[in-house]
Amino acid sequence: MNIKSVILAAGKGTRMKSDTPKVLHEIYGKTLLGYVLDSVKNITNENFVIVGHHSEEVENYVKSNYENAKTVLQQPQLGTGHAVSMVCPKLENYNGLVLILCGDTPLITEETLKNFVDYHISSKSDLTVMSTIFENPTNYGRIIREDDNSLKCIVEEKDATPEQKAVKEVNAGIYCLDWGKIKNAFSQLTSNNAQGEYYLTDIIEWGKKNNLNVNAYILKDNTEIYGINSRVNLAQATKYLTDRVLNNLMINGVTIVDPNSTWISADTEIGKDTIIYPSTYIEGKNKIGSKCKIGPCAHLRGGVTVDDNVKIGNFVEVKKAHIHSNTNVGHLSYIGDSELGEHVNIGAGTITANYDPLSKIKSKTILKDNVKIGSNTVLVAPVTVDEGANIGAGSVITKNIPAWALAITRSPLKILSDWVRKKLS
Ligand code: UD1
Ligand code: CA
Repeated sequence: MNIKSVILAAGKGTRMKSDTPKVLHEIYGKTLLGYVLDSVKNITNENFVIVGHHSEEVENYVKSNYENAKTVLQQPQLGTGHAVSMVCPKLENYNGLVLILCGDTPLITEETLKNFVDYHISSKSDLTVMSTIFENPTNYGRIIREDDNSLKCIVEEKDATPEQKAVKEVNAGIYCLDWGKIKNAFSQLTSNNAQGEYYLTDIIEWGKKNNLNVNAYILKDNTEIYGINSRVNLAQATKYLTDRVLNNLMINGVTIVDPNSTWISADTEIGKDTIIYPSTYIEGKNKIGSKCKIGPCAHLRGGVTVDDNVKIGNFVEVKKAHIHSNTNVGHLSYIGDSELGEHVNIGAGTITANYDPLSKIKSKTILKDNVKIGSNTVLVAPVTVDEGANIGAGSVITKNIPAWALAITRSPLKILSDWVRKKLS
């Protein structure tokens, strides 16, 4: 099916109090806009991101991360209806569906969007708006219905009468439209309202006036359309997302010892019978196998693949690494840009020194099967420790170590008998 999306991301985001554009703020290392673009990626075949404030930064982000998305400049920003009208010249002869979303609602799921589009099609709608119920609907546009319960219009908070403000059904800011039937609305919107803006929400009344089939799809889980306007919202959205991820993992056989202190990104897969101990933070994209033990206080920073039956213990940081099965990284270590074979044991305080600050190059550490690394070892990359080799505690390893060898760089232990007593006398 031919579906395109328009994602509104030109607004200022004043309340973030930030030099970073709002939609480029991150949750678990992924931007708010990235979440929205990912939610549509299996539904649409082309995506338009409307940019305005900090347009260059947002454009660069989209260009380098999403090849199926194009940016369209809206300058100046005269409202959400004006924002969508920016794509009209690009879709002049298009007659398929258009999904409209906001770049600052990162919690929307692909599943909900699929159901939304299915509803639009099965109800033979020309225009469908997503709505939801909030006990405290302040700041959202209110869904106003006719006596027969059909849709009448959407009224913004600033334009609403006290009676309208009492309505708890709100506009989620997500729409599905038959482009060919609605596109003419955009040249006919006016800005006669409290904010002097061209409101996208006015397409509801326009559709009704033009005898189109206009419907609302009520979303049950209102956290999915939670919008980010401030850092307070950003923290709350992270919590909502985390609760969703942890519940899903637990339902699928992962033990989360303390959901209140555990943070795991939505892009992390975890196999069953793995146990995640408290105060563990896992961001980015990762794949963790079955029967692993992670934490307490472990930090996985993304690009991490962990096979089955691996232990990553307390105060261990891992990024961009593949750790094969039955390997232990028990305590206080940093493993980055590394590949660890099977049955490897990493002693406490081991560091993979992956970064050369002079050349600014990051290099790989490779530890083959059955390697044992003594405590407090520094592995200066690029370096390979071949199968079965052992490294003595406290060593700094700067060369490749052959299979089954012992390598040790520790300076010899000196014992000066009675040294202290002599000093004291
Ligand atoms: C909008 C809706 C409101 C809905 C709410 C849901 C309108 C008039 N109101 O209100 O009914 O309940 O979303 O979250 O549509 N933007 C642009 N260009 C502009 C103006 C805005 O791209 O000229 C973008 C913003 O960056 C943002 C999105 O559109 O991503 C929504 O704009 P915002 O000002 O946040 O609208 P709300 O007041 O939240
Ligand atoms: Ca908003």
